[in-house]
Amino acid sequence: MHAEVDRYAVMGNPVQHSLSPLIHTWFAEQTHQALVYEAIEVPLDGFPEAVARFQGEGGRGLNVTVPFKEAAWELADERSARAEEAGAVNTLVLRDDGGRFGDNTDGVGLVRDLERLGWPLAGRRLLILGAGGAVRGVLGPLLATAPREVVIANRTLARAEALVDRFQGRGALSARRFEDLNGAAFDVVINGTSASLAGELPPVPEACVRGACVYDMMYGARPTPFLEWAVAGGARHSADGLGMLVEQAAEAFFVWRGVRPQTAQVLLDLRERLARGC
Ligand code: ATR
Repeated sequence: MHAEVDRYAVMGNPVQHSLSPLIHTWFAEQTHQALVYEAIEVPLDGFPEAVARFQGEGGRGLNVTVPFKEAAWELADERSARAEEAGAVNTLVLRDDGGRFGDNTDGVGLVRDLERLGWPLAGRRLLILGAGGAVRGVLGPLLATAPREVVIANRTLARAEALVDRFQGRGALSARRFEDLNGAAFDVVINGTSASLAGELPPVPEACVRGACVYDMMYGARPTPFLEWAVAGGARHSADGLGMLVEQAAEAFFVWRGVRPQTAQVLLDLRERLARGC
């Protein structure tokens, strides 16, 4: 069964504050693609059923956000190499024959945003804070930019070590505890922890951010507490994850529609809307 206009959606829990419907609606207008995109809040125990229902109603594709990215990986019967290594899927292509192709556009979204910012990674020292799903999802594309070294610092060392094992052979990757970062200097620091959700800061020594380009994968109407702390500590440049959100969306749009939207103006418009609080 096919709807008259191609249907897409983002599924998550919670999802009501998602900016994805707005971003994809703007992309569709810009590229003259006939589609509708909605946000669907899915019960924590109801993800496979929700996907099956949407696909049965003719839905063509899904974005998947917290906490369903691993479940989406399970539901895909075919996956891209980048989804395979991430162990998570944020983009599903729903086929007419019932098939589901799983992709992950988070890492490429982050790398494109860092390129937009003019923060080179090749040959540089990169510090990544956190070792959860968000970091696992972006590590492959970050390593593909050939940094000189990548240090993953995490509160629970074993999780950082597990990531080092998973990506073994892909570059000079090592795991540390935050307290073992003393004295280390980096060119680029990326916060991939969820500490700010609890209003906390990862306990990074200030020397790690001094003179560095500092990125927070989270975003908001105001600079995140982590970015405020980093700038006060002497970070050279800072940026939040709004650009990553737009870039991962653009890549998903390309996967679905074969058309690559322009992102620069969308990012500016989104920033302005966030600042106005709507
Ligand atoms: P996500 O999918 O957002 O990555 P996750 O898999 O639960 O969520 O991972 C959260 C990450 O944030 C982990 O690296 C976590 O550290 P632990 O592995 O030690 O739990 C990190 N994190 C969460 N709160 C933190 C805090 N207050 N300080 C430092 N790190 C924190």
